[in-house]
Amino acid sequence: IGTIGSPTHSVVDIHTHMYPPAYVQLLESRNSIPLIRKFAGAKEPRLIILPAEAESLDKMTGSPETSHLPGRPVTTHYSSLKQKLHFMDTHKIDISVISLANPWLDFVAPEDAGETAKSINQEFSNMCAEAPGRLFFFATLPLTAPPETLLAAVGHVRSLKSCRGVILGTSGLGRGLDDPALVPVLRALAANRLTVFLHPHYGLPSEVWGPRATEEYGHVLPLALGFPMETTIAVARMYLAGVFDQVPDLRMLLAHSGGTLPFLAGRIESCVVHDGHLVREGKVGAGRRTVWQVLREQVYLDAVVYSEVGLKAAVDASGADRLMFGTDHPFFPPLGGDEQGEWESVTWNAEAVRKALGDGTDGARAVMGGNAVEVLRLREDS
Ligand code: URA
Ligand code: ZN
Repeated sequence: IGTIGSPTHSVVDIHTHMYPPAYVQLLESRNSIPLIRKFAGAKEPRLIILPAEAESLDKMTGSPETSHLPGRPVTTHYSSLKQKLHFMDTHKIDISVISLANPWLDFVAPEDAGETAKSINQEFSNMCAEAPGRLFFFATLPLTAPPETLLAAVGHVRSLKSCRGVILGTSGLGRGLDDPALVPVLRALAANRLTVFLHPHYGLPSEVWGPRATEEYGHVLPLALGFPMETTIAVARMYLAGVFDQVPDLRMLLAHSGGTLPFLAGRIESCVVHDGHLVREGKVGAGRRTVWQVLREQVYLDAVVYSEVGLKAAVDASGADRLMFGTDHPFFPPLGGDEQGEWESVTWNAEAVRKALGDGTDGARAVMGGNAVEVLRLREDS
């Protein structure tokens, strides 16, 4: 990677997932996505979570070739802590802030969600305790549970020593993140200094990918474009609803460098200012905070964008002091290569940081870890 970790210049990975064993069992018990299923002839069970993958699952007849199985293999990289630490060592990552991967507990029945969240968060807490100082986590909320259970969960996770925030999808309580009913939850998170790591899962409706996508284009369109657009839309809706003003202490870390927000913020601004409806409603008055301000005041961006061009836009929009390195492990393993060795998906992101901010500069060190240490209080015990 080039950037060698040291006590003062730690490398921190803030975008790195795990499916702990209890969650794997939960997915194994299911018949519709998200699920984990074994296929005859395939060594590893398959993780099938994306709507695009559900379509290929439906189309499957008989026992297909291993190369055409839906989803992806569940390797030890998904649930083994030892494997996570090996991955960190291989890439000279000093500290990881681990999170449950999508779709979290979005599908869990309301009456089970509270207890499931509690045990998963406890499992994350226990994992962190096995590597003190090297592991922290973003907790998971029981979003389908009744409001009092959900608020109690915020209280629970804030008491867990290594918890520094929560990972959140874009569905919120089912109506998105501009839902007024979500504001008390965001307020509770902000009051407890829990950063919200916003992560996509649902992408865009599969029609937009056209009839050829499932057969011919793999997961490229939903992952490369659907995921970032989903994040962009979710945050734009929050902005338009005034959520950032209603919860001024809210701090959000956006996956994949904010989707396309840094690139499109100017267009969002222009569309706001030129919208007759918004102007008539008095929503474009002098006190309005611009998208640019929100990006610089309440938003952090990860550096999981794989190129200097995207990263520079992120730096320009939010500032080099608000960007944080991530890997998205265990996703995007080297195919055909050695999964125990260096991952290209990681080196691309590290390389982008060096190119965008300069090799060995203060800015590069901040993005590789310094910012995360400060913002997420990783030198503090709790
Ligand atoms: N695919 C996913 O489903 N999640 C990720 O975080 C990355 C890729
Ligand atoms: Zn991810």
